[in-house]
Amino acid sequence: MSYPIKERALILAVESSCDETSVAVVENGRKILSNVVASQILSHKRFGGVVPEVASRHHVEQITICMETALIESGVSPKDLSAVAVTYGPGLVGALLIGISAAKAFAWANDLPLIPVDHMAGHIYAANFVTPLKFPSMALLVSGGHTELVYIETEGSYKIIGQTRDDAAGEAYDKVGRVLGLSYPSGKQLDEMAYLGQDTFHFPRAMIKEANFDFSFSGLKSSFINMVHNSEQRGEKLNPNDLAASFQQSVIEVLTVKTLHACQKYPVKQLIIAGGVAANQGLRAKMKHDFSEKLPETELIFPPINLCGDNGAMIGAAAFVEARKGHFAGGDLNAEPGSSFSEEF
Ligand code: KG4
Ligand code: ZN
Repeated sequence: MSYPIKERALILAVESSCDETSVAVVENGRKILSNVVASQILSHKRFGGVVPEVASRHHVEQITICMETALIESGVSPKDLSAVAVTYGPGLVGALLIGISAAKAFAWANDLPLIPVDHMAGHIYAANFVTPLKFPSMALLVSGGHTELVYIETEGSYKIIGQTRDDAAGEAYDKVGRVLGLSYPSGKQLDEMAYLGQDTFHFPRAMIKEANFDFSFSGLKSSFINMVHNSEQRGEKLNPNDLAASFQQSVIEVLTVKTLHACQKYPVKQLIIAGGVAANQGLRAKMKHDFSEKLPETELIFPPINLCGDNGAMIGAAAFVEARKGHFAGGDLNAEPGSSFSEEF
């Protein structure tokens, strides 16, 4: 199927893979005309994490409101749209199905093609709103569910060259945050505390010396938790800002060293740092410092903070690429909660 490219390709993009219902209207994969995000964080906070059934209920309540608002805010009417895009995976199956059903219904009712988009490709393409992506490029994807290094040889081709063997970086942030009594998700708060503290505990830097590009954060999480529990048993109170700084230093050192090695082994024009943890100020500063020293010719791209978390605009940007490749879906599109966009390497 060829893509009905008009001079002005307007894509309505739907994202509902986890705990944000979001719909955007994106022009030619580069310009955001609207990006409505309904966050459910307040509902999940009291459970200390995302409860899938609660997430699905919220998506059902929010999806049509978000679609309507995204169209109104963009000033685009359905007849002017070129396509509807939707995240089909990875994510929570119930949550994904709601976005998919809504997108299918809207596409069918308005006689529009449907573009299936991988959520992780969406995170990468959030960088396209900063500057056009050039190839080959590397992406470090760091979110609550994923930590992976992705080599992108050409537009729309993704190869995972390394990933976490246990916890994702964001997951580790959220778990240690809970031990410090912070509310979910605690990455941002730990980042702010780390800024005020010092790396006095020297937690382990797992797998930093290994030649592969895999990561592991569960040992760091256990060291942190043991340190806090042991001190509590001794009746000592450790400085929470120093604990945060020590934890963060370990995470960002491993992420930066491994990403640098990856870019040395696979020379790239750009490095994209994306996903919720890409909002981390310590990570941004260390990456900028180390790359300007060791690989100054590699252009570093950090999406704006509001596009690091889940949103529809990033799905619209990645959808534009899929459409140009002729990747469309029919009415039988299903959710693929465990899907991976990586090709064989
Ligand atoms: O990409 P995202 O919004 O959702 C997933 O697809 O997982 O990422 C959410 C994760 C959470 O674990 C949250 O704690 C983390 O991103 N996060 C941060 C920061 N802001 C959000 N982690 C570290 N530093 C931050 N500033
Ligand atoms: Zn995400």
